[in-house]
Amino acid sequence: REIVVYDEVESTNSKANELLKQGYPSGTVVIADRQTKGKGRLGRTWISPPGKNLYMSIALKPTIPPKYATLLTLTSVVACTTALRRYTDIPVVIKWPNDMLIDDKKVGGILTELKIEGEKIKAAVVGIGINVNMTEEDMPEEIKEIASSLKIYRKEDLSRGLLAVEIIKEFDKWYQLLEKRQRKTIIDRWMQLSGTIGRQVKIIFTDREILATAEAIDEEGRLIVKLNDGTYEKISAGDVTLLR
Ligand code: BTN
Repeated sequence: REIVVYDEVESTNSKANELLKQGYPSGTVVIADRQTKGKGRLGRTWISPPGKNLYMSIALKPTIPPKYATLLTLTSVVACTTALRRYTDIPVVIKWPNDMLIDDKKVGGILTELKIEGEKIKAAVVGIGINVNMTEEDMPEEIKEIASSLKIYRKEDLSRGLLAVEIIKEFDKWYQLLEKRQRKTIIDRWMQLSGTIGRQVKIIFTDREILATAEAIDEEGRLIVKLNDGTYEKISAGDVTLLR
């Protein structure tokens, strides 16, 4: 298996995509000590200081149809959360679609980037960012309230390398299930690990926002919510805030 490690890259996602184009095999992993242009979801920046956190991307050539692309992210977050729980014993939970939380604060996120051509996913990059040994002092003011790290919870340093190994092992297992179309197994596990289901949520779209209860996810990974007027809606994109 190819695991390529860098001191510094703009973004491990962009690097993984380049390597795939150069002919590296599906499953290639890119890890960097720091990123100069770490990317988050919804066009945000992922704060990526050196020496502390895990920035890792997996380059893939999935065979699933594009309509199940969201499931690739859910599969990845299931793998990461399972690995994190096993490795740290911390009750990490998932917030839809792909945030990893401790005590409602974010410790990790996943950014999946896809190249779709016609009815096929030509290439996919799953980018995983985990705040491992970052302390509150390391965090810029704007994320202190909403972010945490494994170290903040455990009060000790953890090995980024060992954590990466656990995640890769777990990823391989869940990715195989996805490729074998075992969608229900993945969704059931996601629901088990989820801190979103049953909660009141606020969902912010570009043009509106709604208050609702998160009920479940469907087989394409969309979040099914019940609005306060009793109607249901399926959400495939948007920013979710947990209320209570
Ligand atoms: C999110 O917004 O929650 C997703 C964050 C994903 C960050 C990771 S860090 C490794 C990989 N490279 C990037 O540029 N982003 C992802």
